[in-house]
Amino acid sequence: MSESPLADWHERAGVRVDPRRVLGGDLDAGKVLFPERLIPYLAHPLVAGLDPGTREQLVARHAYQYFAFTAHFETRVVNRATELIANGRTDVVLGGDVREDAYKIYCDEAYHALYSFDVVRQLEAATGVAALPYTFEPVITELDAVAAECLPQAGSLPYLLQVVVFETLITSLLAELPNDPDLVGLVRTTVRDHARDEGRHHAYFARFFRELWTGCDLRTRREMATALPRLITQSLRPNQDAVAATLRAAGLAEPQVRDVLADVYAPDRVRQTAREQSVQSVRLFRAAGVLDLPGADEAFAQEGLI
Ligand SMILES: [Fe+2]
Ligand SMILES: [Fe+2]
Repeated sequence: MSESPLADWHERAGVRVDPRRVLGGDLDAGKVLFPERLIPYLAHPLVAGLDPGTREQLVARHAYQYFAFTAHFETRVVNRATELIANGRTDVVLGGDVREDAYKIYCDEAYHALYSFDVVRQLEAATGVAALPYTFEPVITELDAVAAECLPQAGSLPYLLQVVVFETLITSLLAELPNDPDLVGLVRTTVRDHARDEGRHHAYFARFFRELWTGCDLRTRREMATALPRLITQSLRPNQDAVAATLRAAGLAEPQVRDVLADVYAPDRVRQTAREQSVQSVRLFRAAGVLDLPGADEAFAQEGLI
């Protein structure tokens, strides 16, 4: 077996070596908190004509939501499963190395959550735009519902698949934001720090999945093949409740909010985005043999992923 992707964690992990990132004077220099092109509702006719101050508020809150999603997902979904691995509480028996690496990831994700919260607070203080309360409940409720429906035997497997899916999805934001010169350095650098850690997590969970898959019986594999595509689309689904809250705060009336959401997050567009964002994950599952099972093709196709 080749060396663990977390073998040099003590020398390279962000939580071990990176300094705290601080905002500095970038806002005065005209840098933005989030690229407008990546905020789909900004171009909607009901939003495009809002005054510049209100649009800036929307951009700020979109950035806040990106980081709030990260903080919630890391602590409530990723680390919920990582704890099971670290403490040896999974149904499958895991070796000491796999468990020790899970403790490292647990620390990484807790730190990612901490600096995500820190970034939002720094941006709030500098812009004067307050963050709205972030609603994560719909995200985790849906994820758990999919897992419960597809994997009725429960145990640790639903949580393990949730973490494998999320950690092997390399969303384009992690690659795109650090290289955007118009973005405030705090956001750029924070996302770059995060992406470096996530590269190691991706490798760990890709390997973890192959071993998990190999160790499962055929019936469990069939259930996994149905669960995986649904967990992928669920993990990539935009949090529309959170967007609705920022649109309301920008002064849109309820029917307008509904119109914007219906247009911007039309099912076809959401499916298209999920397909684009999951190419690498689908490749990984295909390489592991998931799509060779009868019915697996159809399950992935039904979610629009292949
Ligand atoms: Fe993370
Ligand atoms: Fe991670």
